[in-house]
Amino acid sequence: MFAVNFNKTAMPIFSGKAALMTFLKSIKNKNTSIGFVPTMGALHQGHLSLMQQSLNENQKTVVSIFVNPTQFNNPEDLKKYPRTLESDTKKIEALNPDIIIYAPTVEDIYEENVSSESFDFDGLENQMEGKFRPGHFDGVGTIVKRLFEIVQPNNAYFGEKDFQQLQIVKKMTQKNNLPVNIIGCPIHREENGLAMSSRNERLSPEQRSEASVIYKTLKNAELLFQNKSATEVTEWVNEVFNNHPTFELEYFQIAEEDSLLPCIEKSKDKNYRAFIAVFVNNIRLIDTISLK
Ligand code: PAF
Repeated sequence: MFAVNFNKTAMPIFSGKAALMTFLKSIKNKNTSIGFVPTMGALHQGHLSLMQQSLNENQKTVVSIFVNPTQFNNPEDLKKYPRTLESDTKKIEALNPDIIIYAPTVEDIYEENVSSESFDFDGLENQMEGKFRPGHFDGVGTIVKRLFEIVQPNNAYFGEKDFQQLQIVKKMTQKNNLPVNIIGCPIHREENGLAMSSRNERLSPEQRSEASVIYKTLKNAELLFQNKSATEVTEWVNEVFNNHPTFELEYFQIAEEDSLLPCIEKSKDKNYRAFIAVFVNNIRLIDTISLK
């Protein structure tokens, strides 16, 4: 028995890579394009929009649901990460029952050895998330590479909320000559501007409402950056969070989009982005906007 089925439908759900690979081989011919959406579950509208884009652009769509242990530098965060496979499955089925779900066990992915490969992402890994979450991007590189080897997609879809991850996945794909197009998709926001994230599930209703401060601050930083330097904008953002009663700033950085290097002096030829990470009651939230 290779497929588990929570909602007694014909939806293909695989928990083992061997069966998934055999199934994909049986449906694939040279004209079948496979779209892939890797996720860690706790699905929200942002994930569903990635799946919709994949459905629009490919004959078959595969979604993986796997909370990848090697990308968590904080064991508490891994323990508390929401795991909602049954409701995730229902959301996917409501979107399109033909989507193929791969929800592996840790053993199926890592066998006996739950550890990361070591990658060189040409320095992208040393900025922002990489500085504050040691080993995180080796974990991401490891799982995405393994999932690509298993699913062998033509196109893979990633949200721009994790913009640094998107750049790193592009670099990993290019350096390993993997024949996959990496497609970045826009951030989905709640009504108050909070970027959709599986971690939002852990916020209380008050924290969720107060979290509007993150996007508001990014939008104001965007305005300020028209006339001020990156250093001045960063000082202003630090001030906002120093005065905030519950949200604590981990970092705010204005960086160049391709290299992710901090903006020291503005150049008209470069595209910049603002990146932010904040904590509220040990829940870590990140966001980013383009400063074009
Ligand atoms: O963005 C995520 O949810 C994860 O980092 C990913 C890409 C699914 C790898 O575990």
